[in-house]
Amino acid sequence: MPIGRVRPSIAAMAPYRPGKSAAQAEAEHGIADAIKLASNENPFPPVPAVTAAIAAAASGVNRYADHRAAELRAALASWVGVEPDQVTVGCGSVGLLQQLCITYLDPGDEAVFPWLSFEAYPVMVAQMAATSVRVPLVDHTFDLDAVAAAVTDRTKLVLLATPNNPTGTAVSTAALAAMIERVPSDVIVLVDEAYREFVDPGFGDPVADLVPRFPNVVVSRTLSKAYGLAGLRLGYAVGAPEVITELDKVLLAFAVNGLAQAAGLAALGALDEIRPNIDTLLTERTRLVGELVQAGWRLPDAQANFVYLPIGAATAGVAVELERRGVVVRPFANEGIRVTVGTVEQNDRFLAAFGEVIAPLGEPSRFPTET
Ligand SMILES: Cc1ncc(COP(=O)(O)O)c(C=O)c1O
Repeated sequence: MPIGRVRPSIAAMAPYRPGKSAAQAEAEHGIADAIKLASNENPFPPVPAVTAAIAAAASGVNRYADHRAAELRAALASWVGVEPDQVTVGCGSVGLLQQLCITYLDPGDEAVFPWLSFEAYPVMVAQMAATSVRVPLVDHTFDLDAVAAAVTDRTKLVLLATPNNPTGTAVSTAALAAMIERVPSDVIVLVDEAYREFVDPGFGDPVADLVPRFPNVVVSRTLSKAYGLAGLRLGYAVGAPEVITELDKVLLAFAVNGLAQAAGLAALGALDEIRPNIDTLLTERTRLVGELVQAGWRLPDAQANFVYLPIGAATAGVAVELERRGVVVRPFANEGIRVTVGTVEQNDRFLAAFGEVIAPLGEPSRFPTET
């Protein structure tokens, strides 16, 4: 029984379920040496310059950090080539997503997004007692015509993750621009680029291609993935100063902590050291895809740090069997499994375990290839 008068939209919500940890899988299956390829984390620890900056900042945690993270904003702005008042930081990019929902969604308002997509979207929308309008994917990627057509006068937000989680497919800034042209200018379009650093540059740069042209576009990015700072929670958003000002009003006080700010600044100063890790992940992604295609799989175009296998009804069973072999992936019930690109050894373990688990279920051609 609930205590107090819980808002109906919260009472109806399921709690957020993070990807299963390796330790959980080990305990559940009575195994050792499990690996987690379930949350699209970076398998490499932060580079020494970043860990040194975190260590140095630790002695200052008796004080609140700079709420506005002015130095970090300025550094991010000059890095991406915009003015400081066009950038804000958040508690992960998921924190910025929540700020966007708080800022724009009243109960009953609509947020439109393709589906399957990032699982936090319907959760954040539901928290505001607003309505999620899900637009089905076509062949694992966005149907941008259908997204534009789903916008009504109740729509306040459009949420587009490119590359998309979990399918990994990306859309070009040219295609996004054509869609945004069709959307009223008072509808905010979030271009969620959590996986920016893994995408083929040919898809364009939303900060350069869309933000100057569309004041209603907000681009969010994160230091969680490519820069390996998932545990510190640091994301940033770029948009028109008027939008950024409103988002800033709903940032939880000091939500971007001092260690995160120090690590973010250090990461921006150490891009040359971090780049090889990103390149390794890209090489490994190519290898993973290559081996799976060789084995007969037809996969959606993998543009992030994960690979998506649309195995439909076999998903839950395959995920459990992989876990029994110590490989934790992320299942999406009846849709497919998402496998984070890990180290060479981790990817080898996944490939071996997947081959073993899938063989008795039949040829890859037996599995669905489109949604
Ligand atoms: C599409 C997408 N957006 C945002 C995030 C949130 O990342 P973070 O809050 O760590 O910045 C994720 C994380 O998985 C994601 O997949």
